[in-house]
Amino acid sequence: MKVGIFASGSGSNALNIIQHAKKTNTFEVACILTNNPKAGVIQHATNEEIPFFLFSKTDFTSPLIILEYLQKQKVDVVILAGFLWLIPTYLVQAFPNRILNIHPALLPKHGGKGMYGHFVHEAVVRDQDTESGITIHLVNEHYDDGAIIFQKSESIFGMNANEVELVVRRLEIEHYPQVISNFIQTLQK
Ligand code: GAR
Repeated sequence: MKVGIFASGSGSNALNIIQHAKKTNTFEVACILTNNPKAGVIQHATNEEIPFFLFSKTDFTSPLIILEYLQKQKVDVVILAGFLWLIPTYLVQAFPNRILNIHPALLPKHGGKGMYGHFVHEAVVRDQDTESGITIHLVNEHYDDGAIIFQKSESIFGMNANEVELVVRRLEIEHYPQVISNFIQTLQK
């Protein structure tokens, strides 16, 4: 099966997923999509010889452009890896239960609009949580709200936000690609 990855940050998760796909042959990364011309993921896509598509907010709100591209690349499953815009209804409907997101905390806590990256880890520390981790979930029309398919937590007792981020990023790298492989396997049954 083919996946399309939406990413707008440094792209460490996207690169890790690309490398896992190449190594295991359990799925193929058909393309990368980003709204950020400065995203590190563009360099990763270029280095890995994966086509990428840079789009604007207007492109994103008009179904034809994004869907046409995903169809052209024959994408079966959409993966969000550090993508921050709300997924519009047309995309959720075109890929029902086939869009996955990773969130850098234990949902349902610390999710929602504006909760991304460092803001999440700061909220975790502010709330004096003793554990944090990752949540991988299906995507619906609301931020961080779809069915959870995987969570992994660790003690973060006494850590500051930077230290929590390191723990969470390690968990992301360890688990996201394998969870994607497993998810795709269940679709193929
Ligand atoms: C990751 O930590 C991901 O969980 C987070 O953005 C980072 C992207 O890093 N996503 C969110 O906060 C979504 N709400 P990357 O660009 O290095 O993969």
